[in-house]
Amino acid sequence: MDPLEDLFEFLRFPSVSADSQFKSSVDACADWLTARLRRAGLQAQKYETPGHPVVMARNEERPGRRTVLIYGHYDVQPPDPIDLWETPPFEPVIQGGKIFARGSTDNKGQILAHILGVESALKERGDLPVNLIFLVEGEEEIGSPNLAAFLKEYASSWHAEVVAISDTGMVAPGIPTFTYGLRGILCVEIHLRGPSADLHSGIFGGSVANPATVLSRIVAKLHDESGRIAIPGFYDRVLPLEPWERELWAQLPYTERAWLATTGSPRLSGEAGYTFLEQVWARPTAEVNGFSSGYQGEGPKTIVPSRAAAKLSFRLVPDQDPSELKPGILDFLKRECPDSVEMEIIQQHSGKPYLVKPDSAFGKAAQTALADTFGNPVAFIREGGSVPITQSFKDILGIDTLLLGLALPDCKVHSPNENFAIDNFQAGIHLNKLLLEQLAVA
Ligand code: BES
Ligand code: MN
Repeated sequence: MDPLEDLFEFLRFPSVSADSQFKSSVDACADWLTARLRRAGLQAQKYETPGHPVVMARNEERPGRRTVLIYGHYDVQPPDPIDLWETPPFEPVIQGGKIFARGSTDNKGQILAHILGVESALKERGDLPVNLIFLVEGEEEIGSPNLAAFLKEYASSWHAEVVAISDTGMVAPGIPTFTYGLRGILCVEIHLRGPSADLHSGIFGGSVANPATVLSRIVAKLHDESGRIAIPGFYDRVLPLEPWERELWAQLPYTERAWLATTGSPRLSGEAGYTFLEQVWARPTAEVNGFSSGYQGEGPKTIVPSRAAAKLSFRLVPDQDPSELKPGILDFLKRECPDSVEMEIIQQHSGKPYLVKPDSAFGKAAQTALADTFGNPVAFIREGGSVPITQSFKDILGIDTLLLGLALPDCKVHSPNENFAIDNFQAGIHLNKLLLEQLAVA
């Protein structure tokens, strides 16, 4: 079958992990993936979890060769806002050398490239140079809430020595990119309750607190005037940037102009004293991901809303630990809340940041495979995004992760019109073969 046809089938499942209305599609996608891995020549199985299933596949485990675990995810972010898609999110199309669909880059195209690389090596040679484990989960985009427990239950029988993940970015087309750090994350939702129902703002306004106003004030206090996060102790464990990283990053082919153009913002804005790459790759943030209160329909409506809510996420950097930071964040939010409203905080997922020395034997093997695939020297970066299970591979299995992503800066990951360059899909298939060959002798 044509690799693109395979990818199209994979992309047609709306495997949105965040929204329970897609649950049966997530499950159907896991079934498709399990069957596809079997067709590639591996022993594959779907494992139920308290949430969405995990799909695992292996070749024959033989002593005397290295064991490599390739991790990815088949779940995708919600497609919203749907109106802004130029073509429907779950009906993949090719335009200008790119495949457009939700999940095309993140992560279906990238994980399928690995699977097709393995299938093609098995066809050509009848065997792989390593013992291989595919671990493809369905909950990455909601923080992998069940995967650490899954690792604890099964992983002692796997004997994996290193993890490879293609779920990060490339600096530019044709520039092989080795990512040696990721940010962590901590998400909470705040709900404020004022009056028991929306009130007439003329009859009652001025005599009771407005939850939208109160929530705005709380959210505004998260940062000080200079853009630093104002929660006490928040920066205590933040590792300073190493001089070699600042030097290396300054030479990367990024410009403020291109970064600005990619964002579409009027201008860049962030913590003083850091370049935009440093802000994103090595500094923590507090973001409002969603904010809702009051009347959202057309025309005016004069009320004091009963409720207000905000979804917050904090991106964390090495050596911040979400479980250490959580009490301070919750205390801060509660302290800033006046007793004129009631506050409820819903704690959501969290994941640790990741940082690894790029020059281990496995790291160098991956860099050789990357350089040979693209015919260019490798760029070394960190990423601002999170793959929350990465540090758990270290904590639970004691092994490092190699991050060899193929997402281009304009791939619109998590946005409308997400896309994956066909060139990178094909490069990924080739990269997989070189990677396993290199890791076998590392
Ligand atoms: N693949 C992304 C992370 C990513 C994207 C890294 C682009 C580098 C470049 C991953 O699937 C993702 O988006 N993760 C979520 C995790 C979160 C919901 C726990 C993220 O970072 O928001
Ligand atoms: Mn991803």
